[in-house]
Amino acid sequence: MPDVTPDAPSYSTALLTPDTWDDFAALVEANNGVWGGCWCMGFHPEGLVGTPEDRRVTKRAHTDAGTVHQVLVYDEGGRCVGWCQFGSPAELPNIKNAKVYEKDLGELPHWRIGCIFTGSKHRERGVARAAVTAVLEEIRRAGGGAVEAYPEQVEDRKPQRGAYLHTGPETLYEELGFVRDRQIAKWRWVMRLEVGA
Ligand SMILES: CC(C)(COP(=O)(O)OP(=O)(O)OC[C@H]1O[C@@H](n2cnc3c(N)ncnc32)[C@H](O)[C@@H]1OP(=O)(O)O)[C@@H](O)C(=O)NCCC(=O)NCCS
Repeated sequence: MPDVTPDAPSYSTALLTPDTWDDFAALVEANNGVWGGCWCMGFHPEGLVGTPEDRRVTKRAHTDAGTVHQVLVYDEGGRCVGWCQFGSPAELPNIKNAKVYEKDLGELPHWRIGCIFTGSKHRERGVARAAVTAVLEEIRRAGGGAVEAYPEQVEDRKPQRGAYLHTGPETLYEELGFVRDRQIAKWRWVMRLEVGA
């Protein structure tokens, strides 16, 4: 029997490239630039410098140069409804709580999961799950290795709106096989998964 809930929406995925840029940009624009104009630049080496327009231009430049790894999720109507960014630590150096992270750092992972985002009208319907699942498949195809995510604890905590789970919910990563490595903030953990080739 296939492991599919009959009424679960079905999603497709694609990488962010110059060809899919317009789909990504439409989702960012429909969500006011994401956090008022982040344009998903927070984890890239440049960080959140400049104006929202500067960030849009820099994100586009990364897309053109192939220095961004990001899975886009599409609904059945072909609309981009979410994404999950991933990359090497050099590609994504600006994680949250970096100082605490570095204090007890053993070995850097091969891969990091960076920004995760589902459009505000499409939440709690499995978009983020589809995004991270596709990221892990991309990583496997690229040779695998140690993957880190930095999600937020949701259990034993007051319920949180998705909007405040900036790095995603821990339960999602747990479900996909990640395990806690160490705590780097009151509600944020380093989680790790070894992906085989
Ligand atoms: C966090 C976020 C990515 C979740 O996306 P989503 O598509 O709604 O998540 P999914 O529907 O795939 O949920 C998968 C699992 O995550 C967990 N989850 C999702 N939203 C949750 C919430 N608000 N509280 C607790 N757990 C949650 C659940 O375990 C869920 O599994 P279930 O549906 O079987 O219970 C989304 O709310 C979001 O984009 N928030 C803003 C994040 C942001 O600011 N990104 C920019 C970063 S700088």
